[in-house]
Amino acid sequence: VCDVAGFVASTYHRGVALIHVPTTLLAQVDAAVGGKTGVNLAQGKNLVGTFHQPRAVLCDVDLLATLPRAELRAGMAEVVKYGLIADPSLLDVAATEAGAILAADPVVLAAVVERSVGIKAAVVGDDERELGRRAHLNYGHTFGHAIERASGFTGIRHGEAVALGMMAAAYLAEELGRVDGEVVDAHRRPLEALGLPVEGSYDIGALEAAWRHDKKYRRGVRFVLLAGLARPEAGVHAPRALVARALERLAG
Ligand SMILES: NC(=O)c1ccc[n+]([C@@H]2O[C@H](COP(=O)([O-])OP(=O)(O)OC[C@H]3O[C@@H](n4cnc5c(N)ncnc54)[C@H](O)[C@@H]3O)[C@@H](O)[C@H]2O)c1
Ligand SMILES: [Zn+2]
Repeated sequence: VCDVAGFVASTYHRGVALIHVPTTLLAQVDAAVGGKTGVNLAQGKNLVGTFHQPRAVLCDVDLLATLPRAELRAGMAEVVKYGLIADPSLLDVAATEAGAILAADPVVLAAVVERSVGIKAAVVGDDERELGRRAHLNYGHTFGHAIERASGFTGIRHGEAVALGMMAAAYLAEELGRVDGEVVDAHRRPLEALGLPVEGSYDIGALEAAWRHDKKYRRGVRFVLLAGLARPEAGVHAPRALVARALERLAG
């Protein structure tokens, strides 16, 4: 909803002002903040879009009281992402407070939303047009978006695909010798505590078909990978055999 509303607001009358009042955890911690809008085409995710900053974003965690657990879980995938790329203490919060979070405890959620928005706003404030570090926010999304497309955008939530995508990125980083098994465990632990998927079987050919349509696909797919917790790097190439190996490990 944030993406479609933002896209329409940015093009209607060549742009009208917009205030987001996100009602999902995912939108409160991520999609409503930062001004990126994207609309999917059959060829892929977010292929049509704009940058259009909202005038304000109002995150009221009381709105999340009616949100289904599966949607709370999906939103937490982006919070785990912030933990992995920027603030590892969020990984402990996700693991130890999973019960309260999935019960939509407003006190815990308010803290989670505040910290997440703080991280995203700082990154976007630094690099609005994604010339540099904003790309780190795409952690897990190269695999994740391809998984969504390979699934025809049905049957898997964005956050679930991102959870699988971050696991695949962790395995790929380990295969490349960039991180050790402890960093892989730091991915799995909070995701499992939240009940997010950490295993899935995906064909490398289907993911490559998605990558070829990606707007960021220039001379081969590049990944955001960690060199350690809170040490993301964008633009990393990986040999096909190691991508295949990472997918084998994701399949369990
Ligand atoms: N533009 C960005 O920067 C950005 C960032 C992250 C994600 N995204 C995109 O966001 C999308 C997912 O967003 P989403 O999770 O908000 O999806 P969504 O809008 O599809 O909402 C998920 C479900 O929750 C229901 N729902 C919403 N609020 C509710 C409430 N308060 N109570 C009960 N039910 C409620 C909706 O009807 C829907 O069924 C993905 O397409 C993803 O690519 C964009
Ligand atoms: Zn996302």
